[in-house]
Amino acid sequence: MLDAQTLRKDFPILSHQVYGKPLIYFDNSATTQKPRCVIEKIENSYYNVNANIHRGVHFLSQAATEAHEEARQAIQQFLNARSSNEIIFTRGTTESINLIASSFTDECVSPGDEIIVSVMEHHSNIVPWQIEAAKKDISIKVIPMNDNGELLLDEYEKLFSNKTKLVSVAHVSNVLGTINPIKEIIRIAHEHDVPVMVDGAQAVPHMKVDVQDLDAEFYAFSGHKIYGPTGIGVLYGKEEWLEKLPPYQGGGEMISSVSFEKTVFNELPFKFEAGTPDFIGSTALAEALRYVENIGMDNIAAYENDLLDYATRRLETIDGVRIFGKAPNKGAVLSFLVGNIHHYDMGMLLDRLGIAVRTGHHCAQPLMQRLGIEGAIRASFSFYNTHDEVDVFIDGLKRVIQML
Ligand code: ALA
Repeated sequence: MLDAQTLRKDFPILSHQVYGKPLIYFDNSATTQKPRCVIEKIENSYYNVNANIHRGVHFLSQAATEAHEEARQAIQQFLNARSSNEIIFTRGTTESINLIASSFTDECVSPGDEIIVSVMEHHSNIVPWQIEAAKKDISIKVIPMNDNGELLLDEYEKLFSNKTKLVSVAHVSNVLGTINPIKEIIRIAHEHDVPVMVDGAQAVPHMKVDVQDLDAEFYAFSGHKIYGPTGIGVLYGKEEWLEKLPPYQGGGEMISSVSFEKTVFNELPFKFEAGTPDFIGSTALAEALRYVENIGMDNIAAYENDLLDYATRRLETIDGVRIFGKAPNKGAVLSFLVGNIHHYDMGMLLDRLGIAVRTGHHCAQPLMQRLGIEGAIRASFSFYNTHDEVDVFIDGLKRVIQML
């Protein structure tokens, strides 16, 4: 088991106090805190290696280019992708999904075609498809779930038709914590010759992800949810698929030649990276991945699982609590309501006790409708959270419930 108390020392912000109380940060699904090595990497890059990349012959530009391309290789290894050409830097999961929604539907769909998503998707994996659906006259089918928050695979199979062009689903739900049976979902899609896009934003920080083993065509995650900086993320795509999709944005290094008569696009991965790449972010993300790999993704998963079990058991002792998401295979997310107490009131009062949780619809309004609620409180954990913090949280909840 990893030693959370020792690891906490790597995260300067965790020793802060808010309102005179020690900060308890349980909003890790929204964003994670940053270890000192990541913060120092950013600082060091600006002090020592700052130049625009891929376009300068001078020393600094070459050093920055090398660091950026090494970061790409680090991410390739982290995901076990076949080639670094399969790693596209984006601003985050949202941009990765928008890229595929745009480029895939430009190339691979005709009016009347269908895309499959699930009822538990984040808006980032709904709205991009709706935008394209409206422009290209395609429709969206939705995989339903049971009351525990598990997708109904029998119903999923029934959604396929000869019009189905893509499946796009979350690996792990940001509200329910459900770890979807993603390999099975991909296998079923492939039986129908349909490619799959996976939103891995809530999975990659918490478990080992091997894109070759999963066999997804596309997989996305965000840097800031895995202890890296904001503004950088990754789109993995199988090379043969990325080759056949058109660029998403124009400008910068995504071309090999431009004239008013004809522009020739660059090779992978640059074809999808318009504008000055975020080389500060990519190198800091690689540093974050080195950091979690040193701890071990399996150790992180085991520790967080144990913490989730403990927090769930303790939360269940509270009268009138309703937990949303009871799948047996669950990530470190605990969404709930207590009696008729409004999630916002509870979140505000917990905040006054130094406890940071998220309240609201969690950017998953269709899921809220399925659950018959407007919003919920969500505590989401990291390996740096402790059982003691869970105890303070439960005591705090009890106080807040009495007050309300
Ligand atoms: N997607 C992030 C969350 O679920 C912001 O909180």
